[in-house]
Amino acid sequence: MTLLLVIEASPRHEHSASRILTAQFVEKWARSHPNGSVVVRDLVQSNLQFVDLPWIGAAFTPPEQHSPEHASALKTSTTLIEELKAADHIVIGTPMYNFSIPALLKAYIDQIVRVGVTVSTAYEGMLKNKKATVILTTGGDFSPGAPFASANVASSYLKQILGFIGISDVDIVLAVKTLTIDQGETTLANFASQFDAELSAAAA
Ligand SMILES: Cc1cc2nc3c(=O)[nH]c(=O)nc-3n(C[C@H](O)[C@H](O)[C@H](O)COP(=O)(O)O)c2cc1C
Repeated sequence: MTLLLVIEASPRHEHSASRILTAQFVEKWARSHPNGSVVVRDLVQSNLQFVDLPWIGAAFTPPEQHSPEHASALKTSTTLIEELKAADHIVIGTPMYNFSIPALLKAYIDQIVRVGVTVSTAYEGMLKNKKATVILTTGGDFSPGAPFASANVASSYLKQILGFIGISDVDIVLAVKTLTIDQGETTLANFASQFDAELSAAAA
């Protein structure tokens, strides 16, 4: 059975451009994978902790020496990694925050990048045969050729970190100028309809 893991990062729920685009992607994916199943990891609901000293101590202790305290410090990380390992396709719906990604998504990434578990000690990605789609919404214009295109750190960072854990087949759907929705120049539904073909191709 094919499994899609949906990672959501916007706290704006029904007003969120990344969430509506991600929902459209999921609908298309489900249509082209009738026997597939979908698991949602909503980071806004997940109450993720930042990596702290017990986490670091545990993550860098060989598993065969893990105490119950080590296992407890890594419990969330282990759950998230199991969820990720089970998935064939991962879709990340996220806004751009300050040219990069929201802290919630960074907290998730810090939990799932673990030496010996998702990346080898030789720094080879250990998650194989997976595909990822990133749906990135931005208020401003970061489309290719736009004056600020190179300030978009979010796309390159997400590609880099997914590749680091072994996921090199990554599509990025860059949905720029959501400011036009906030300014009343277009509606969320009209804005989202522009990406129909791109989302269909990514979900095929
Ligand atoms: C804290 C914060 C930081 C933001 N930083 C940027 C930014 O650096 N560049 C940009 O174009 N838009 C920025 N935005 C706008 C969001 O990227 C934009 O509104 C996006 O569509 C929000 O996605 P959502 O509707 O899924 O929440 C920022 C918004 C917030 C709330």
